[in-house]
Amino acid sequence: MALRRIVVVSRQAEIQQLARRVAQETFVADDLADALDITETANPDLVVFDHQFSPPHIREFLNILLGRNKNPMNVPVVAVGNGESDTDLSAEFIQAGAVDCLKGKQDYGRLQHIASRIENKSSAVDSAGSETDPNYFFAEQWAASVFMVGRSKAILSTVKMIKLVAASRCNPALIVGETGTGKELAAKAIHALRHPDEPFVAVNCAALTANLLESELFGHVKGSFTGADREKTGLLELAGKGTLFLDEISEMPIGLQAKLLRVLQEKTFRKVGGIKNITCDATIITSSNRDLESQVRANCFRRDLYYRLNICPITIAPLRAPQRREDVQLLAEYFLKTSTVCPEKHNKITSFTKLAMESLQKHDWPGNVRELRNVIERAIILETTGKIGLSGIVINPGEWGQPSDGLTAGHIKNFSLAEAERQLITRALQETGWQKTRAAALLGITRATLYAKVKQYNIEKGSYITDDHGMQKSTFSPSSGEVQNDPLTSSTPQPVTVA
Ligand SMILES: Nc1ncnc2c1ncn2[C@@H]1O[C@H](COP(=O)(O)OP(=O)(O)OP(=O)(O)O)[C@@H](O)[C@H]1O
Ligand SMILES: [Mg+2]
Repeated sequence: MALRRIVVVSRQAEIQQLARRVAQETFVADDLADALDITETANPDLVVFDHQFSPPHIREFLNILLGRNKNPMNVPVVAVGNGESDTDLSAEFIQAGAVDCLKGKQDYGRLQHIASRIENKSSAVDSAGSETDPNYFFAEQWAASVFMVGRSKAILSTVKMIKLVAASRCNPALIVGETGTGKELAAKAIHALRHPDEPFVAVNCAALTANLLESELFGHVKGSFTGADREKTGLLELAGKGTLFLDEISEMPIGLQAKLLRVLQEKTFRKVGGIKNITCDATIITSSNRDLESQVRANCFRRDLYYRLNICPITIAPLRAPQRREDVQLLAEYFLKTSTVCPEKHNKITSFTKLAMESLQKHDWPGNVRELRNVIERAIILETTGKIGLSGIVINPGEWGQPSDGLTAGHIKNFSLAEAERQLITRALQETGWQKTRAAALLGITRATLYAKVKQYNIEKGSYITDDHGMQKSTFSPSSGEVQNDPLTSSTPQPVTVA
């Protein structure tokens, strides 16, 4: 099996069968318009036209795709001629843009060779684009050295700010952003730019009790409290001329905030129970995923410390922000290329299908880059072909194995094939927001067949998939055109669902 996806524009069973032999997924199109829609949706590796279509048809098909800017990879087209006719149109098909032409039944066997040729070429293209260009993933050269991926407007301004803060004497620094946006990575970037050869020490202020955190930060002298049976060097001292990273600074107990402020102002501190002043040379970088200003208003964070930290804050936008959203694709490609979760698949899975990438781009990523990395690693584990498909994109693994509809294994009571077909079609329509061309592509049937089935099973926009207990599962809102979240299977809105 050479190709992943093929579109066959033919009503002839024999040609459809021929196409099925060379690809894992076959999409059948009825006519030129159908072929255009399905090609845009399914992003196939090859399109095969039967002898009903002439060279001008092929030219028109390729021109329309080009005009819609939907054919960046120049999808190869193969024409299947009618062996019985006297005229050999091969040259004209090639001139029209086809990569090859099968002359008739006696020539059908060559499709396998053509498919292998295309497959070899596309794997070469897949691995080119990015790896050969060292700046493909990064806004600037130095960002590559700390593996900070992103070229969106938002990341460009973050990268600029990191560079300015690192080059200045700004101390302390503050990094703000939602969970998983890359605050610790930004802290390490400042450190790497400012004093890469000095120590980088980090502590999470939410992870320790007030007393433990104080003794971690400042150290203690022997006998200063019960259990202090030895002298301890604190992180402030261990950081030396390097960086002390105070993660989740908003969670620092208020009493300790006053002591930190004193260190920041006087640049000296004492160990718990100690009398000797120790000089603090470290750069102190703090981070917060809470809005510190509202913490100040709620009397949970000292106003004076907030002002001291907030000199030149570095803000990292969430992935769903319009100015950062374009990085989703870049990050996904980067994690696919660099993940070591399945060493045996390294370099074998080279890209994403168009539908898979669309589903990644649609998701809101409440867990930001961390969540995206986990989803990609999960997809790598699940994927068995060379391209990550929609079914590998599982956003909410907690829903795995839950009975979501009659199609899920485990509790099937209704073994009717027709019922299964009805449910599958309803689900495909719901998942594609009732875009029939896309639903047909997902199901691997023509639009005409889909229309017929929708009519046969009387499926309407308000149709439900019912589970074994007769409960309504996914719902569809005709007014918004959006698939609504299923309250029975998911706790947070999940725009992306398992295919
Ligand atoms: N721009 C980026 N390029 C590559 N990887 C990134 C990027 N941003 C974040 N990551 C990766 O995402 C994960 C989470 O990043 P990080 O720990 O820096 O986030 P955080 O904002 O500190 O999260 P939290 O608030 O939950 O502590 C890490 O594995 C990090 O390497
Ligand atoms: Mg962090």
